[in-house]
Amino acid sequence: MRMRRKKHGAERIAACKDILIPAPVNEEGENQTLDPQSTFPTARPIHLEIGCGKGDFAVGMAAKHPEANWIAMERVPDVACLALEKAMAAKDTREDNLRFLIGDARNVAEWFPEGSVDCLYLNFSDPWPKKGYAKRRLTHTGFLELYRKVLKPHGMLKLKTDNEGLFDFSLEQFAECGLTIEWQTRDLHHSEKNGGNVMTEYERSFSERGQVIYSAWVRY
Ligand SMILES: C[S@@+](CC[C@H](N)C(=O)[O-])C[C@H]1O[C@@H](n2cnc3c(N)ncnc32)[C@H](O)[C@@H]1O
Repeated sequence: MRMRRKKHGAERIAACKDILIPAPVNEEGENQTLDPQSTFPTARPIHLEIGCGKGDFAVGMAAKHPEANWIAMERVPDVACLALEKAMAAKDTREDNLRFLIGDARNVAEWFPEGSVDCLYLNFSDPWPKKGYAKRRLTHTGFLELYRKVLKPHGMLKLKTDNEGLFDFSLEQFAECGLTIEWQTRDLHHSEKNGGNVMTEYERSFSERGQVIYSAWVRY
């Protein structure tokens, strides 16, 4: 997601510190492992979204599912800033169960303890259509194996995308990692799971233009 640099971005992010997990990096710039539960007042199953964009999904799901603790990761600080501000504005209307982490998915297995995450969400991840960039796709086997480390045994990965090429590629990668596709659809909004669906910004925009949404729930 490209966007013009936010004026006063650092100050605006700092103003959201109550819901921001500081980057788990020491003074030497080395990754550290965080204790995700300790960032919430109450221990609950951890649900992690990677590439949260402007935060509609995380904010909506945290309100809808107070039985879980939600962490939304985004690597672009200016985008995360918008998500943080949205979440701060809605903070008093839900449980204190949503946190943000600014950083790249490549770090996920170093930042999160083994088996600490119950469910992981990838929503409208960048498709990287050129073949040479396949390793950057967040459903490439390289990433799927990182997620395996942080997910609980038999944890769940939930994917949504508008991009048929990325969807087909993801199904192949799931099979390559020996994962079980519990459920899949090539039209989420006309499926039995649509009732519980919380839309992301991209999802709303694509579906308004008549684009179908692909989705898969995958068991490790
Ligand atoms: C296409 S946007 C979708 C945003 C949002 N999930 C939605 O559905 O509206 C993809 C987002 O993932 C973020 N992203 C891409 N690669 C990432 C990575 N390796 N780690 C963390 N975030 C990433 C991008 O910065 C961007 O905000």
